[in-house]
Amino acid sequence: MKIAVFGGAFNPIHYGHLQLSHEFAKRLKLDKVMLIPSSTPPHKLYADMAPGKDRLEMCRLSVEGDPLFLVSDIEIERAGASFTADTLDKLTELYPNARWYLITGADMFLTLGTWHRFDDIARMAILCTAPRDDIESAKLREYAAVLEKRGAKCMIEDIPKTDISSTKIRRLIAAGKDIDGFVPTAVKDYIYENSLYKNVIDSTENADAQFIEIIRGRLTPYRFRHSIAVAEQAKHLALLYGADPKKAYTAGIFHDIMKDEPKAALLQMLSDFGIILNNAQMASPCCWHAIAGAEFVRNILKIGDDDIINAVRYHTTARAGMSPLEKTIFIADFTSLDRDYPDIDEMRRRAEFGSEVAMEYALSYTIRELLNKSAVILPDAIDAYNEIIALKQKESDNYAATKPPQK
Ligand SMILES: [Fe+2]
Ligand SMILES: [Fe+2]
Repeated sequence: MKIAVFGGAFNPIHYGHLQLSHEFAKRLKLDKVMLIPSSTPPHKLYADMAPGKDRLEMCRLSVEGDPLFLVSDIEIERAGASFTADTLDKLTELYPNARWYLITGADMFLTLGTWHRFDDIARMAILCTAPRDDIESAKLREYAAVLEKRGAKCMIEDIPKTDISSTKIRRLIAAGKDIDGFVPTAVKDYIYENSLYKNVIDSTENADAQFIEIIRGRLTPYRFRHSIAVAEQAKHLALLYGADPKKAYTAGIFHDIMKDEPKAALLQMLSDFGIILNNAQMASPCCWHAIAGAEFVRNILKIGDDDIINAVRYHTTARAGMSPLEKTIFIADFTSLDRDYPDIDEMRRRAEFGSEVAMEYALSYTIRELLNKSAVILPDAIDAYNEIIALKQKESDNYAATKPPQK
């Protein structure tokens, strides 16, 4: 039996999804297409997301009586961030004789190589997508060749696209306009009966709650607690250092998002993002999670705030010319409640006093530790340290210049 997994937010499901499924079924001679609404999609964030049970019900209603479809609650039931690899594990267990296909949108397809446990996904399923135009088609084929080198099997099908999208449907509903022709009648009735999508919420409102779910799905319990503790401490320090406490909290949540990935996965991810490490960075694996984390936050989670991205990027090394937010995260990582090391009390005392004294202490501590271990010291750390010392010298020279001349 050939079954395609078609996962997504389905927020809401529409005719575009159904047509695409039928086209794939026809071309790949699929026996079934399994719709799997996700709980919190790790790759995309919607603040105006209908509850899982409603999105699941709309999927069921939209395919009622159509023998091609199965609808699975596997990801909604699991809750938290949904990972395709975990879903495929479960499905291969439930249907041991099935041959699996994975249908993804073109955007998602272009990030597949960075997905959690990509190699397992590639082993378990044939990866399918449909481009929106010729340019995208070329891009997808090029990327598919890269994935195939890693053992994947890909199928790019030129299926004509409809211009229906879930975003468009939600906007129409919020504007009080009609959605006839975009979704099956049963789905439309369900949306109105349950008052879904009437108020489109601003995406910043409950974003942090979703971000927390994303890191919960990616980190060990230990690292998860640490990240929340850093976010809390960052919110507190932001007020002292003149940074935005909301952004500080968000950057704190994300700062170690890649910390529990194996080294090989981080290197693969960096190469997928087109990042070439220099020799010093190559010899300093403890900075990889920060570089990969920043790219992940920018490219996959689509967080467009450069200050947050840089705070993640430089939280291990620091750098010269850091913004108040970058300093906040760097120091919060040293002083969060879960931290325990010999100098912690002194470090916390300085953190309360001001970012410069705290940065100097933290950087000297780190540089000393690296020297003791004969480890590489990245130029960014040295630049940050030099900048602080130079500033201190200038301040003390200025102070000396204000003293009355000695008799
Ligand atoms: Fe870190
Ligand atoms: Fe950390």
